[in-house]
Amino acid sequence: MRSPKDFFAPLALGAPEPLREVPFRPSRMIHFFDPSNERMRAKVPDIAPTVDVLLGNLEDAVSADSKDAARAGLIEVGKAWEPGHTQLWTRVNSLDSPWFLDDVWALCHEIGDKLDVIMVPKVEGPEDIHYVDRLLAQLEARVGLERPLLVHAILETARGVANVESICLASPRMQGLSLGPADLAADRRMKTTRVGGGHPGYLVRTDPVPDGDDDARTSFQQDLWHYTLARMVDACGTAGILPYYGPFGDIADPIGCEDQFRNAYLLGCVGAWSLHPSQIAIAKRVFSPEPAEVAWAQRVVTEMGDGTGAVMIDGKMQDDATVKQCRVVLQLARDLSAADPELAAAYGLETA
Ligand code: GLV
Ligand code: MG
Repeated sequence: MRSPKDFFAPLALGAPEPLREVPFRPSRMIHFFDPSNERMRAKVPDIAPTVDVLLGNLEDAVSADSKDAARAGLIEVGKAWEPGHTQLWTRVNSLDSPWFLDDVWALCHEIGDKLDVIMVPKVEGPEDIHYVDRLLAQLEARVGLERPLLVHAILETARGVANVESICLASPRMQGLSLGPADLAADRRMKTTRVGGGHPGYLVRTDPVPDGDDDARTSFQQDLWHYTLARMVDACGTAGILPYYGPFGDIADPIGCEDQFRNAYLLGCVGAWSLHPSQIAIAKRVFSPEPAEVAWAQRVVTEMGDGTGAVMIDGKMQDDATVKQCRVVLQLARDLSAADPELAAAYGLETA
């Protein structure tokens, strides 16, 4: 048992106070790079201004013999990092790996003041977050950090999905959740061999017609990730934190990528990972509301006045609930516009 009064007390003497609200900063794309790769490090000054979040990846996709180089490379990037609109995140190695402790220890000591969010992979339950929470508080106190580091968990095991609500609610440090479809597929023993996206075999078909032609029966592909994503969105909403799609591995299929990202956006996600520069523009387009949608939302809010009662606009009924939806779209448009004058001009919204 723990008193709710203690929930926002720092977990180590001298650690900064936990935040009461997750700061909403644009994070339409979390752009992954491998900091062990010198060529990628050299591109950071060019790529950083084009993304909302730049993430130095230390986990999967970095080979075991490059783990130390990746950590050192990220520290080099972090030391040169000028905080601005773009956030700097990292994905550390998993809690059961031989690298996790060195990752957080070194990153907190060397660039703890530059990092915004630490992404923790393969989180299975609230106990994982409690461990990270206390460890980060101890490190923050030791290093003298003034800002608490936030934690983002990847949902990529069956047990993690079963515990998703308690993971989201485990600490005020929780910033958000990403779907990890590749590891999740393996852990669930799904019979796919992909990183995210749909599968042509996962479908429903119309009923047979007596003496009918089976080839004429229409089938529709279903979304393998709908259930998990929907659970994630509700769990994040309950905890006041942010849901993200995760990776789409088929770089050669921008349309499939855009469709998956858009499903996630419509369902409530705020962003997705970009694994290749070509996915940056896709995420930016998908996770920014369309100007026509923003104009419509503005019209509904204006015509609804104090937000009560009901009006008809172009044959569509508007009431308290549609006003609330429109306010969500407008708030997102305003938040994104604050860092993007081009978007602000497209929306025609005043920026503060
Ligand atoms: C991401 O980490 C995934 O496993 O899909
Ligand atoms: Mg994974």
